[in-house]
Amino acid sequence: MSAQINLYERLADELGALIESRVFAPGDRLPSIRHLSQQKRLSISTVMQALRLLEDRGLVDARPQAGFYVRHRARNLAAVCDSHCTTLPTYVGINNLLMRVLRANKTPGALQLGLSWPPDELLPVKRLQQIMASTARRAPELLAQDGCFDTNEPHFVRQVTRRALDWGRIDPQEIIATNSCTEAISLALRAVAKPGDTVAIESPTYFVLLQLIESLGMKALEIPTDPKTGLSIDALELAMREGLVQACLLVPNVNNPLGSIMPEESKKRLAGLVSRYDIPLVEDDVYGDLCFMAERPWPVKAYDTSGHVLLCSSFSKVASPSLRAGYILAGRYTQEVAFLKNVSSGGNSVFIQAVLADYIGSSSYDNQVRRIRRTMTQRIARMSDAVSEFFPAECSVSAPQGGFVLWIALPEGADAMALHEQAIEHRIAFMPGPLFSASGRFGNCIRINCGNAWSSEVDHAVRCLGTLVRQSLDRVPLRPMAKLARAS
Ligand SMILES: Cc1ncc(COP(=O)(O)O)c(C=O)c1O
Repeated sequence: MSAQINLYERLADELGALIESRVFAPGDRLPSIRHLSQQKRLSISTVMQALRLLEDRGLVDARPQAGFYVRHRARNLAAVCDSHCTTLPTYVGINNLLMRVLRANKTPGALQLGLSWPPDELLPVKRLQQIMASTARRAPELLAQDGCFDTNEPHFVRQVTRRALDWGRIDPQEIIATNSCTEAISLALRAVAKPGDTVAIESPTYFVLLQLIESLGMKALEIPTDPKTGLSIDALELAMREGLVQACLLVPNVNNPLGSIMPEESKKRLAGLVSRYDIPLVEDDVYGDLCFMAERPWPVKAYDTSGHVLLCSSFSKVASPSLRAGYILAGRYTQEVAFLKNVSSGGNSVFIQAVLADYIGSSSYDNQVRRIRRTMTQRIARMSDAVSEFFPAECSVSAPQGGFVLWIALPEGADAMALHEQAIEHRIAFMPGPLFSASGRFGNCIRINCGNAWSSEVDHAVRCLGTLVRQSLDRVPLRPMAKLARAS
């Protein structure tokens, strides 16, 4: 019996080494069971046991009727969803650190892996130029006094309402145009919560959301978030039941940085919870159109029957980050949000809205969404494979379901801030993990952008980062990769 165990373990070790050295690369099919059995002179069942062991080790996947394939490292990211590890509500203080990192990332000549934008080459600049010129000619009054104190441009409201038909029917009366998704979220938070209140957020979450909470003197409660399925609804319900939360600020479709998408059942449950506990949910849906599946996932707003969900979005990720055009569907809080919008900025550019209305109302927008989805699916897979190749084997990588970024967990003990300093010296910019937490978690994680087309510069940068990580690990005693939840 023990000789047999040794045989299949030995075969698993042998194949594992070939995978590690990339003789079999991610996505490759391993030789068939019959072939391995003949080649190694082992029984079919011994080969099967070896392959199952490799599967348990996370190195291969069995595909029905097709054989065993080398797993993309991206799938190795450990689940972080431990509902017991919710931290306490805490005031946020990331702004100074964030400013320091952003300044460093602007070092001249640095390769930009720090953003969560599409690269310029993927943006529809020419089409927008044409629409701008024709709009200015057709409706010069939009550049004069007309509508200078208006928030909404009617054509824009119509097109946003039409686009929302992809997931439901919305009341155009609850739409308020904003300068970006960031402004929409800021208005929403101000409308539904006050200084000292606690806002439930995903952990990790996008640093600007933390910055907004910080700027408004609110507290954040980090809720465990799974790299695939998003926020733990059980943990959130517990916090709601205990009266810890006054508002939620979540990115259920394509969390930044994880790229997770909350399953539809969880969204339904979340909509029910916010209604039952009478707690507003500010939903950031800026990546909703940029998922990698054929159908756009619905937002929680699609299941909201009580008006507790304020959906915030913009056209920054698909059309133009520079136009700063967004909107909010404010539900039962529409009046408060409209008031805050009005006193904050007097109105919203009706010219820009008219331009975007033309763009999002045309098939150009659909083509653009398809183009970004297709390109980013390929670029993320390319970057993920490069990270698997050049980073130490103890690292793990997210498998985003949309967006532009990868989240990489280095082994515990690695220091993302120190790595960032070294990377900047090598002219490589990325975002270190602690910026995505209110309580200093994710000290061993980094976020990198995958939007750049593959080039020798990008290749060199990923190799260089991998080498820097390796060198830093040689200096500290290595502990094996554990749950991200405990990384801090
Ligand atoms: C989750 C999330 N929300 C909002 C934004 C910002 O969108 P906007 O440029 O429209 O303010 C970003 C940009 O990175 C983001 O990642």
